[in-house]
Amino acid sequence: MTKVIFFFVLLLATKYANGGGGFTFDEYYYQTYGGNHLSVLDNGNEVQLLMDQSTGAGFSSKREFGSGYFGINMKIPDKNSTGINTSFYLISVPVGQPVGGVKHYEIDIEFLGTNGNPHIISTNVFVNDFGAKEQLFHLWFDPTMDFHKYAILWNHHQIVWFVDETPIRVWKNISNLGVGFPTVPMHLEASIWNPDWLGSVDWAQGPFIAYYRRFPIHGCRHAGSNPQKCYSETYYWNQKHYCQLSPDQEKKLQEMRKIYMFEDYCNDPYKKGQECLLNQ
Ligand SMILES: *[C@@H]1O[C@H](CO)[C@@H](O)[C@H](O)[C@H]1NC(C)=O
Ligand SMILES: *[C@@H]1O[C@H](CO)[C@@H](O)[C@H](O)[C@H]1NC(C)=O
Ligand SMILES: *[C@@H]1O[C@H](CO)[C@@H](O)[C@H](O)[C@H]1NC(C)=O
Repeated sequence: MTKVIFFFVLLLATKYANGGGGFTFDEYYYQTYGGNHLSVLDNGNEVQLLMDQSTGAGFSSKREFGSGYFGINMKIPDKNSTGINTSFYLISVPVGQPVGGVKHYEIDIEFLGTNGNPHIISTNVFVNDFGAKEQLFHLWFDPTMDFHKYAILWNHHQIVWFVDETPIRVWKNISNLGVGFPTVPMHLEASIWNPDWLGSVDWAQGPFIAYYRRFPIHGCRHAGSNPQKCYSETYYWNQKHYCQLSPDQEKKLQEMRKIYMFEDYCNDPYKKGQECLLNQ
């Protein structure tokens, strides 16, 4: 018996060691663009996206989801990356279709390299509109030094942005008040690129490399025929504990907003909506 168990442990160890399945990049994601600017390393446990003057790179989840607790570990370029956008996000627009100027759903985590100060995380949400609901935070650590976990919880009650399990932002489902909430399947994407509007890049600082780890996706696959399936409490992220923040999380959220948030669309009379009062 012991021998048999030992054999299986050995088999599992070999399977994961050689990246033959389980937790690796290829199980969950595929490259969308960038050629050799995407490298799969460490037997599929790490991906590097490299940006230079010729191109950036990106990847997408293989599947579409209807709910989930979507996390990834990331380390962003350790250079003065002014002009560079490193991201991890959910989006409803199919890969390869133009996004600009198209109403759609999107939940963003972005790092926008700014003046050599990389300790800034930007969040945004599109609810069948053009977005413009940014909230920006200073980080309490240097995201270029180590891997940290960035995650988006999305169920039918709320969207929550987490940094290392600490909630920094909430978008509640208050669709009964007419506030938008994602109603269609979304997939995950990650990329590094340089949007014109972020300003010019100092290419001499490059190449800029973003690192990603921990690829397993905790999501309900959107099956098409039965979208209600993704409401089911058989998925842990739909259970009571995830439908609203706990008192501790609520306290943490207030602290994060107070100490670290330095830009909020809710302070802009032209951008803010009725959700602003209810999402804090
Ligand atoms: C950063 O890139 C992501 C992914 O392409 C995009 O959704 C987002 O709008 C970009 N943000 C800025 C400020 O350029
Ligand atoms: C970072 O690079 C930008 C663009 O080249 C430059 O304007 C800025 O002064 C640099 N910041 C630092 C802290 O070096
Ligand atoms: C939002 O919540 C309402 C209940 O208040 C529910 O009927 C609806 O399906 C939810 N919407 C989404 C998109 O999850």
